[in-house]
Amino acid sequence: MKTSFADAPSGASSHAATSPGLFSPLVLPNGTVIPNRIAKAAMAESLAGPGQAPDARLARMEANFAQGGVGLIITGNVMIDPLALGSPGDVVLQRGMDLAPFRAWAKAARSHGAQVWMQINHPGRQTMAVLGQPGWAPSEVAVDLGKHSKLIAKPKALNETQIRQIIQRFADTAREAEAAGFTGVEIHAAHGYLISQFLSPLTNLRKDKWGGSMANRVRFLLEVVSAVRGAVRREFCVGVKINSADFQRGGFDSDDALEVVKMLNSSGVDLVELSGGSYEAPAMQGQTRDGRTLAREAYFLEFARDISKVARMPIMTTGGIRRREVAEGVLSQGVSLVGIATSLAMDPGLPLTWREAKPRDGVLPTIKFKDKMLASVAYMAVIQRQLQRLGDGQRPLANASAIFSIIRDQLRNKLLARRYRSWSRLQS
Ligand SMILES: Cc1cc2nc3c(=O)[nH]c(=O)nc-3n(C[C@H](O)[C@H](O)[C@H](O)COP(=O)(O)O)c2cc1C
Repeated sequence: MKTSFADAPSGASSHAATSPGLFSPLVLPNGTVIPNRIAKAAMAESLAGPGQAPDARLARMEANFAQGGVGLIITGNVMIDPLALGSPGDVVLQRGMDLAPFRAWAKAARSHGAQVWMQINHPGRQTMAVLGQPGWAPSEVAVDLGKHSKLIAKPKALNETQIRQIIQRFADTAREAEAAGFTGVEIHAAHGYLISQFLSPLTNLRKDKWGGSMANRVRFLLEVVSAVRGAVRREFCVGVKINSADFQRGGFDSDDALEVVKMLNSSGVDLVELSGGSYEAPAMQGQTRDGRTLAREAYFLEFARDISKVARMPIMTTGGIRRREVAEGVLSQGVSLVGIATSLAMDPGLPLTWREAKPRDGVLPTIKFKDKMLASVAYMAVIQRQLQRLGDGQRPLANASAIFSIIRDQLRNKLLARRYRSWSRLQS
């Protein structure tokens, strides 16, 4: 039975027969009110400045989402360790950094009353080779991207001390995010990054207490949640993004996800976001590698509906949502929040348009590459370019060229990686 959160203003639970409207507020277990049911899901912006600090463009970009009327803004992933980045444009937040640019970012995002959470992450083995660091992972299982695999660094297995240090880093970063004026953090435990690597039997081959049974594989996530919760005030929100499945044969599956949520029920988590996939199987873009077919829109809705039946915290699902009817359909299934990424990058004003009952659907970019991996990279490059345009005070492009976006992205990454490598030499 759901006991710990309510859908304001009526106080009805999210399983009420009549589903809440898209523009009704949601009260989280810690009492925080999210003003409506639309969340801007995390999108890595690749907008770190020197020293991997937030560039001023991040605040400008985020103001677009604030004005656009979402109830919750989740930032692109911010890395907890300067020596463990996914890509060279990633922002880092660790103890002792100047918080001024983070404050400006949080302030712009909060300017229209939305809740603003920083997504905090460790990439584990999903780190680009060009960064010059190994990928620190539960086990030495390399990312398999076929002929593109060499783009990703070789992994090394973490030892007990390193695992403890990473848990502490998650807590430190959350505390800094709170000090900088964010209203919460979302712990990234999805998409094949470090926490998700611990959860998956394909990437976690450890024989110690961090691997093997589900109870052992989930230990790292539970310890991170507990350390983060213990580092911040109760009013500061703590969310977790997990995969509903890896969508790879033998991987973390939907029964595992159900078990994880049950284990999170008593951990003080305010929201669980459900997504799916990894670099190897980008289900978050609708592609699977285990033969399963996802819904054409709201990819993970079926899983989210089942999980919300056992969850004591509200559930959000993200992936493939771009029409108002679909967003309302998500809420009607007992899911409390609708996460949207791509459609908001293309059109940050979509929520306001829907609120004014004007007919408008979100759009997804059309990518026509046959190579699935290249298609996935192109998709990310096109959307990141839109985010960067918002940061430059420009409007998103309706028909951005995929080829141009990839070339531009590669050149940018080359330059950013060079800057990062010289800076990172001073960090160890
Ligand atoms: C450019 C880009 C960057 C992304 N970066 C992140 C990220 O930093 N963290 C994360 O959890 N998901 C990230 N995602 C995935 C989205 O949050 C979301 O799960 C996915 O795009 C599916 O939702 P959509 O169909 O509404 O785009 C990213 C997606 C895109 C397109």
